[in-house]
Amino acid sequence: MMRNKYWLYLIFFIFLSCKTSQKNNNSSISIDPYKYTIQKSTIAENGAVVSAHPLASKVGVEILKMGGNAIDAAIATQLALAVVYPQAGNLGGGGFMVAKLGNGKEIAIDYREMAPGSAHRDMYIDSAGVARTDKSQDGHLSSGVPGTVAGLFESAKYGKLSFDKLIQPAIDLAEKGFTISEREARSLNTLQDELKQFNTVTPVFIKESGWKEGDTLVQTDLTQTLKRIKEKGAAGFYEGETAKLIVEEMKRGSGIITSSDLKNYTAKLREPHTFDYKGYKVLGMPMPSSGGILLHQMMKMIEERNIASMGFQSTQAVQLMTEAERRAYADRAEYMGDADFYKVPVDMITHPVYLQERMKTYDPAKATPSTMIKPGILIRAESKETTHLSVIDKEGNAVAVTTTLNNSYGSKTVVGGAGFFLNDEMDDFSIKPGVPNMYGAVGGEANAIMPGKRMLSSMSPTIVLKDNKPFLVVGTPGGTTIPTSVFQTIVNIIEFNMSTEDAVYKPKFHHQWLPDTLAIEKGFPQMVIDSMQKMGYHFYERGAIGRTEIIKVLANKKFEAVADNRGDDDAEGW
Ligand code: DON
Repeated sequence: MMRNKYWLYLIFFIFLSCKTSQKNNNSSISIDPYKYTIQKSTIAENGAVVSAHPLASKVGVEILKMGGNAIDAAIATQLALAVVYPQAGNLGGGGFMVAKLGNGKEIAIDYREMAPGSAHRDMYIDSAGVARTDKSQDGHLSSGVPGTVAGLFESAKYGKLSFDKLIQPAIDLAEKGFTISEREARSLNTLQDELKQFNTVTPVFIKESGWKEGDTLVQTDLTQTLKRIKEKGAAGFYEGETAKLIVEEMKRGSGIITSSDLKNYTAKLREPHTFDYKGYKVLGMPMPSSGGILLHQMMKMIEERNIASMGFQSTQAVQLMTEAERRAYADRAEYMGDADFYKVPVDMITHPVYLQERMKTYDPAKATPSTMIKPGILIRAESKETTHLSVIDKEGNAVAVTTTLNNSYGSKTVVGGAGFFLNDEMDDFSIKPGVPNMYGAVGGEANAIMPGKRMLSSMSPTIVLKDNKPFLVVGTPGGTTIPTSVFQTIVNIIEFNMSTEDAVYKPKFHHQWLPDTLAIEKGFPQMVIDSMQKMGYHFYERGAIGRTEIIKVLANKKFEAVADNRGDDDAEGW
């Protein structure tokens, strides 16, 4: 009898302790924000998250472990990035999500910033007719109405966990602080002068003695903003105290975002732009991003030309891809802009006959000068800093998110009392026909400023399906180089059969029609440069092109997650 009782007590005790540990798992996340390492790649069975910051990737995986799906993890990762990666992670910017859901649905969420109600076409042209890129690229007037918070709540409709759980890790990171890396310290130090110039209230990022590796960054104002969002949902950002702080900041700095601009902002559910490539199905971002359509055009322009036989980074392959890039970007400049405001001829510029016609001037022996490539004739009747995250789970959900403030730290203006940077996304509009934006991209009518319109983007969160199941989840920052980086990464894997790491790490190149130059990364093969120079190409070596984060689903169904080695990017899985 006594013995039985003893066993009963023991079983009861074990049951209780299991319950408590389950509860602990559900309510808090155990990540040490003061001591963490970077992992560049991993192979996982249950799910994976790749992002620009180890703490953010770890938060995402913890959410998966708590029973969240890839959408939940993507939301929590973005919120964490808004704290630990202030140069691009954001509350004050916007982004796009492309997802293939476990139930087979394909969705795109557009939370791109929007021109304020009193914005107008010539708002950056001064009385002498000069386009004031200083005003469209920095400070209060450069900001569009932020979309991120609305986008996160729109995304949450497809998640499983409560928003409270998804935002808590970000609150903890902001409140308790985290250790910054050497790269982050350097980045904040180079920002100090601009921070002083573009802020009306001294932000926490200003440090007279300079930042150094190992410093702890605590963000008290941001904590309060996050708590308001936790408590009141999207209204905790677009209304009430946060909205008031944004509007007050605008008034102090001669910005134009009003409380009704904020209240009226909505994220939009769209259909991904899709196309097939040699049996794969590609899901890309539709307008207002040029990403999906550019990728479609470039891939179709090379599809029938047997690029695999030319070899990776052979002169022929690089030249072919360059010519495809050049032609697609000429169309971007002429035809692309927010399709809710401008009729973008999507079907025509992606039509096989049109694309064939575009490549008629392609000559494998020499460069086609950009002056000869006008945007295609339609066949009638017939930095810079952004951030990408890729997430996948074992329920069949795959999520690609690219989010941005535009330039590194956006407008450089932190909302006084609210602790987050505002974007400088207005520069992505064509502020004057023919005047290049900060990425050298030109545009005209299609991408002219109008109240409520969303500025044209290059962000390309992309999912490649094989047998209608996720195969690649990929994307990158890099302004106009985004679609070309995604293009090259996919071609490297599908055509050149490269390892996922090589596909990401090998030097990239970029042509965007204007300027008529071929940008290359350090380490690009000299032999290719020499032979292409003879064909009439003008090269210039630039800094890193993108920070590509990718997940590949292997034949054994495991997830191979690879983070770019061009930054502190990190891949986690479980
Ligand atoms: O939406 C766009 O195309 C740009 N605002 C993205 C900026 C960007 O990728 C900067 N990163 N290096």
